Amino acid sequence: MTEKHGKLTAGLVEEEVKVADPVKIQDLTFRDAHQSIFATRGRTEDMIPIAEEMDEVGFWALGVWGGATFDTMHRFLGEDPWERPRTLKKYVKNTPLQMLLRGQNLVGYRNYADDVAEIFVERAAENGIDVFRVFDAVNDLRNFETVVPIIKKMGMHFQGAICYSLTEPRMGGDVYNTDYYVKKAKELEDMGADTVCIKDMAGLISPYDAYMLINALKKEIKVPIHLHSHFTSGQSCMALLKAIEAGVDIVDTVLSPWGYRTSHPALEPLVMTLKGTSRDTGFDINKLAELSEHMEKVSPKYRHLLDDTKLSVIDINVLLHQTPGGMLSNLVNQLRDMDALDRIDEVFAELPRVRKELGQVPLVTPTSQIVGIQTVNNVLFDTEDERYKMITAQVKDLCYGLYGETPVPIDPEVRKKALKGYERGEKPIKTRPADVLEPELDKAKAMAGDLAKDIDDQLIVALYPTTGVRFLKWKYGLEEVPDEVKPKTLEQAKEENRLIALAKAGKLVEKVEKPAPEKSPGLRAFNVFVDGEYFEVEVDEVGGAPVVTAVTPMMPQPVAAPAPPPAAPAAAPAPAPEAAPAAAAPRPAVEGGTPIEAPMPGMVIRYEVKEGDSVNEGDVVLILEAMKMENSIAAPTSGTVLSIPFKNGDSVQKGDTLAVIG
Ligand code: CO
Repeated sequence: MTEKHGKLTAGLVEEEVKVADPVKIQDLTFRDAHQSIFATRGRTEDMIPIAEEMDEVGFWALGVWGGATFDTMHRFLGEDPWERPRTLKKYVKNTPLQMLLRGQNLVGYRNYADDVAEIFVERAAENGIDVFRVFDAVNDLRNFETVVPIIKKMGMHFQGAICYSLTEPRMGGDVYNTDYYVKKAKELEDMGADTVCIKDMAGLISPYDAYMLINALKKEIKVPIHLHSHFTSGQSCMALLKAIEAGVDIVDTVLSPWGYRTSHPALEPLVMTLKGTSRDTGFDINKLAELSEHMEKVSPKYRHLLDDTKLSVIDINVLLHQTPGGMLSNLVNQLRDMDALDRIDEVFAELPRVRKELGQVPLVTPTSQIVGIQTVNNVLFDTEDERYKMITAQVKDLCYGLYGETPVPIDPEVRKKALKGYERGEKPIKTRPADVLEPELDKAKAMAGDLAKDIDDQLIVALYPTTGVRFLKWKYGLEEVPDEVKPKTLEQAKEENRLIALAKAGKLVEKVEKPAPEKSPGLRAFNVFVDGEYFEVEVDEVGGAPVVTAVTPMMPQPVAAPAPPPAAPAAAPAPAPEAAPAAAAPRPAVEGGTPIEAPMPGMVIRYEVKEGDSVNEGDVVLILEAMKMENSIAAPTSGTVLSIPFKNGDSVQKGDTLAVIG
């Protein structure tokens, strides 16, 4: 260490600096910052006022698009996702615009067919994206093979990203060690990467591990190295500094108001830290303060989305369990739904075992969800003599190879059990996952029909069929944009925040804007906070019956981490249902016979049988979706299906009778 330290220049004062080697900075305020702390709800209108000045700072690039933005923009914000890079490009003339591309998953949650992937990348470049950061959830670089040649063909920058993962508290062990990352980096370099990025999405990297890793990469890799590390566990500011000492070329930061928590280290303290050293960014701190002031000013619009249930801005669970923060809260919710929160310690004990059996995958969207929910299923449903009693469809897809090759092979016993009777076949594929996917662009075009005016519209439908079609209806005025989707002014947002704060404190305040008198005379609206949720409640005039006549959540609910992904099957072109499930109105089940009870609350995706069918013990009767994972519910006995009380799309509670076999 002594000799290495002797070579460090970052800590030296100005007169000792021989060669200036400024660290380059990519800003992520317009994408990952609000994806991480405000559920990706940042609006273009709040970026425009500072876009020109952001261009003048001297950033290596501005991260503005991709990741979850495409989904949330068309689904929750009523914004055309393609419009953002096009608009920002008008103001940002010199700094490259960057996007996060999830490999063959593009900006969705499943692998798309090659025809969609190719045209998507082409359109992203045409609409203004210059730098493509590409990653894959299981680090299978074959999932890069379709998109990279298009990025190159379009003359754009290809940054190859490796998901940073751990199996123990620090880097090392027999999977995620230095060699693993160096090997992946070399493969990316061979693939033509212009830069290589270590993508630490859960904020796991320790400062000295960052030092060692960057040091190793700088020795072996010719292209510049980039570090992306979320603040989640509290280590990332230190990690960036040690990485800078080890010679990292580029790091990611955000403007301070949208920094820290599950977002990124703030830019301003780093600029100050490096001032006068060989790695001085050269940025004007006064200028940055003005930009941050703007972000602070618009933040009341997003305040209700910030998770302020805890005082702590860091999550030490990440250090204890090496699991992303969002994944832990999902597990807790899942257990609570099943009245089994007391079994959380068993889940923590089972989790490393399941993850290992499923190929020691990195825990990132969507693999964190897949491993997490399977773990809960194992804890709740396994018996002494049988493990993996209830295997989700996504685990079957993973075992079949639809997500790609896992870092270590999947446990053969688990794989065999998962693929027994699997619809695509019992023998896993060895090929690149998209090789088994049929082209899907024409189908999407047909589905979009006249609603779509151009290929960009068609791609919205190809990626998100249900919500995409709905968005196009909003876009072309065929359907009214709901109030909760429309942007709010700063004044409206401040007033709503005031009402939320008062409601939380138990103080009832009458809403100023009353419902239209001609529609509902006598109705008055109040703010109410119940069970951690904010509602606007309309009640009858005093003297009339004090009946609650309408309960509507006024705002999207706070989400600590990026909204849980609708982890659709990796490859099946059918999208997971996106619409709200219909209220369940079951017909009464018949007397007698063997009932199949819902083992968990969820939504009926589809029945595989109908009344009168005969089934054998173990046959799949229906698919039940819980926490976005699909579970096959099998017949406990052979016989005839006497009754099916629910229909597809119904929500069911734990213990509801799903079918009766007699
Ligand atoms: Co990130």
